[in-house]
Amino acid sequence: MSTSSDDLFKNVISHAKEYGFVFPSSEIYDGLSAVYDYGQYGAELKNNLKTYWWKSMVQMNENIVGIDSAIFMHPKIWKASGHVDGFSDPMIDNKDSKKRYRADQLLEDKIERYGKDGKTAKAERLQADMEQALKDENLPRLRELIVEHEIACPVSGTRNWTEVRQFNLMFSTQMGAVADDSDVVYLRPETAQGIFVNYLNVQKSGRMKIPFGIAQIGKAFRNEVIARQFIIRMREFEQMEMQFFVRPGTQMEWFEYWKETRLKWHLALGTDAAKYRYHEHTKLAHYADAAFDIEFEFPFGFKEVEGIHSRTDFDLSQHQKFSNKKLQYFDPEVDPKTNKPYGNYVPFVIETSIGLDRMFLLTMINAFEEEALGNEETQDSRTVLRLHPCLAPIKAAIFPLTKKDGLPEKAREIMDKLKIDYNLVYEEKDAIGKRYRRQDAIGTPFCITVDHQTLEDNTVTIRYRDTMAQERVDAGELNKIIGGLVSW
Ligand code: GAP
Repeated sequence: MSTSSDDLFKNVISHAKEYGFVFPSSEIYDGLSAVYDYGQYGAELKNNLKTYWWKSMVQMNENIVGIDSAIFMHPKIWKASGHVDGFSDPMIDNKDSKKRYRADQLLEDKIERYGKDGKTAKAERLQADMEQALKDENLPRLRELIVEHEIACPVSGTRNWTEVRQFNLMFSTQMGAVADDSDVVYLRPETAQGIFVNYLNVQKSGRMKIPFGIAQIGKAFRNEVIARQFIIRMREFEQMEMQFFVRPGTQMEWFEYWKETRLKWHLALGTDAAKYRYHEHTKLAHYADAAFDIEFEFPFGFKEVEGIHSRTDFDLSQHQKFSNKKLQYFDPEVDPKTNKPYGNYVPFVIETSIGLDRMFLLTMINAFEEEALGNEETQDSRTVLRLHPCLAPIKAAIFPLTKKDGLPEKAREIMDKLKIDYNLVYEEKDAIGKRYRRQDAIGTPFCITVDHQTLEDNTVTIRYRDTMAQERVDAGELNKIIGGLVSW
């Protein structure tokens, strides 16, 4: 990581805290690892990202509907989905420090070290060996590599490692008053299963015809062992997932469609296309027949933000088997090859799954700018969040120029007419320049100043965040001006 991107990341994290976007959870108790709270502006930005996703997935597609399923689900669901047996990471403990690490992460760090030291051949060989061991699920081999490459514990510096074991990432808890094994329930590690088990309910009650989609936004929980990079890897996070049910044999067409459509969704926010790339999975999960990630270039490198997976009929078939309930769809359309209806089948599924918190971080990083304002003598600068106006937490700030002469009352009168449509703030403290800077820092696209002239002719000054240009407009025009920029 270069110093400047390192600094950018640190600055975004401290900005997020200072301006009420993201706080470490339970901070007065020294925090809780890999858990974060969203503050007053963070909650607004997050809601706006959800709205953008929901509108483009559900509102804009007649054949996609949205649901909100419970976090607690029948424990058999996680057996059927493969999460009880297979949702785990290879872990290794250091005997001296008694700290636990992900074995593959230790190796990844070593590969990065070799790369930085110019030992490219070593880095490539270790990468290949590690990938092979992971592919073969060969845990002893992973340990061998850790020993062979003399990897020391980051805390104690010793090389006293245990065996490598699989560690399940699901959180479990007990349901009901009596704690016994039969009452174990899990906190869902993905929202997708809530969609699968409701697919027939939705299909029948909504009279949905294939192809159709079910979307959901909700919390997911994973007992991630390595908490890294702020809100990139959390133990409690939010996903926005959509399962698209299709006729078997048509999945590749739909896979391509959603792969492209989802990247367009990202780019429509105005982000530089060079910051995005696709990453194709070469090692496919047992249920998938194709998988691509959409990656974004964070200051610490390209990281997955969204996954597009062709999940075949794996999940529905598994639920059919474990629940003993038929999950078939009757397709009345006529197959031109046989001249008969396609009939009963278990649909295939294309999934789009985006992490809301990663999208939030991406948005903050993209928007953050420390802008020099050209005056070398005063070294003037401002911190501005150039958020897309639709995403801005506050759409406009209303300032009376002074606290007297009836200006606050007039400013409030103007605000009252606008606040039903837009999230606004009112500020009368501090000099006007200082008030502008504060709004720039939280990404407010407009600042509206009410002065003595307003009392005479009902005009106000509107100042634009990005250009800092100001113009005088009729207060009656404000709704149209703001709406023109912030409406979806
Ligand atoms: N249903 C498919 C699924 O859950 P995934 O790749 O494990 O797929 C999808 O997760 C997205 O959820 C990821 O692309 C990422 O953005 C987000 N995500 C996964 N684990 C996360 C974590 N621990 N913290 C924050 N976001 C996470």
